[in-house]
Amino acid sequence: MKKSINQSNVLILGGLGFIGSNLAHKCLELGSNVSIYDNLDPHSGGNLFNVQTIKKNVKLLFYDILNVDLLAQEVSKADIIFNCAASTSHPFSMKEPWIDLDVNSRGVLNILETIRKFNKEVRFIHIGTSTQLGKLLYHPADEKHPEFPTDIYSANKSVSEKYVLIYANAFDLDATVVRFSNVFGPRASIHSPEFTFNNYFVGLALQNKPITVFGDGKQLRNTVFVDDAIDALIATALAGGSKGETFFAVGDKHYSVADIALMTVDKIGGGKVNFIPWPSDRKVTEIGDAILSNDKIKKRVGWKPVTSLQDGLVITNNYYREHLKKYIK
Ligand SMILES: NC(=O)c1ccc[n+]([C@@H]2O[C@H](COP(=O)([O-])OP(=O)(O)OC[C@H]3O[C@@H](n4cnc5c(N)ncnc54)[C@H](O)[C@@H]3O)[C@@H](O)[C@H]2O)c1
Repeated sequence: MKKSINQSNVLILGGLGFIGSNLAHKCLELGSNVSIYDNLDPHSGGNLFNVQTIKKNVKLLFYDILNVDLLAQEVSKADIIFNCAASTSHPFSMKEPWIDLDVNSRGVLNILETIRKFNKEVRFIHIGTSTQLGKLLYHPADEKHPEFPTDIYSANKSVSEKYVLIYANAFDLDATVVRFSNVFGPRASIHSPEFTFNNYFVGLALQNKPITVFGDGKQLRNTVFVDDAIDALIATALAGGSKGETFFAVGDKHYSVADIALMTVDKIGGGKVNFIPWPSDRKVTEIGDAILSNDKIKKRVGWKPVTSLQDGLVITNNYYREHLKKYIK
């Protein structure tokens, strides 16, 4: 059934994190009743400050998606659910694979089961990641590209995406997956290399520290500004005919890691770029060029990215210059 966002009960799982909190701000602006469900997992990028200016206008629930009873209570009241909750560190998933398995696979099953039992009418948007694909067999890669993830996080994201598609098909849930790649912008975790590399580069440049690029940094990456990513989630939630589908909501352009680093230094106005040989633990999970197509979401949903990397970095810089202490620990 087609939903509207205005006056809808929107449940944002993982709403204290980077993408979830930006989504919460936007949904409030659009007139939704927003509930944020997030356990502020210490190994992910959640930050209470992300909702500082809206905390009185949203329902804040400091709960875990592994708690099925609490989850069921909130799922049963929602019109639209966005799942932005995840254990989001690739390196952490290689050190603590069971935690990653619990949150990124079992947690998603919990959401799907509570929807199936208590709220089959809800619109459900789950976020996947381009890293599910691993090293590309062809490019630009589309949604039909095979998946050979190179770390545990990406493997569990791949499996949980399949759970979503299975439930959409087998139990007729109104569920869709939107996959992202290197989202950047305000409210991200910029203090740690555990999370998206381009946000970490921003953090280093803001502190006037050197950015380290492994190898020659020539491998291509897609980036998308967070406001565009949020618009993709909302547009997909409201689009008809996308049940059981997966979409890449990615940028139009691809840049080398070295160019992203250099552009970050230029637009943030600090730091410098150093090149060093690949550390062995990172080399084994490196995937080379990651060139992705956003044709399907453009055609089917009507979404397209509008903010360039350069403009997005300027907006990002303005945000963190004002709030840096809240993001650098
Ligand atoms: N940031 C990116 O570039 C990017 C790229 C591709 C996909 N994604 C996906 O987007 C989604 C959001 O990512 P993000 O960048 O906002 O990450 P984030 O780490 O900033 O946010 C994740 C949030 O989930 C919460 N969380 C973790 N475990 C939880 C649990 N058991 N119960 C409840 N909440 C829990 C965390 O506390 C955190 O606030 C994730 O699914 C991620 O895989 C992100």
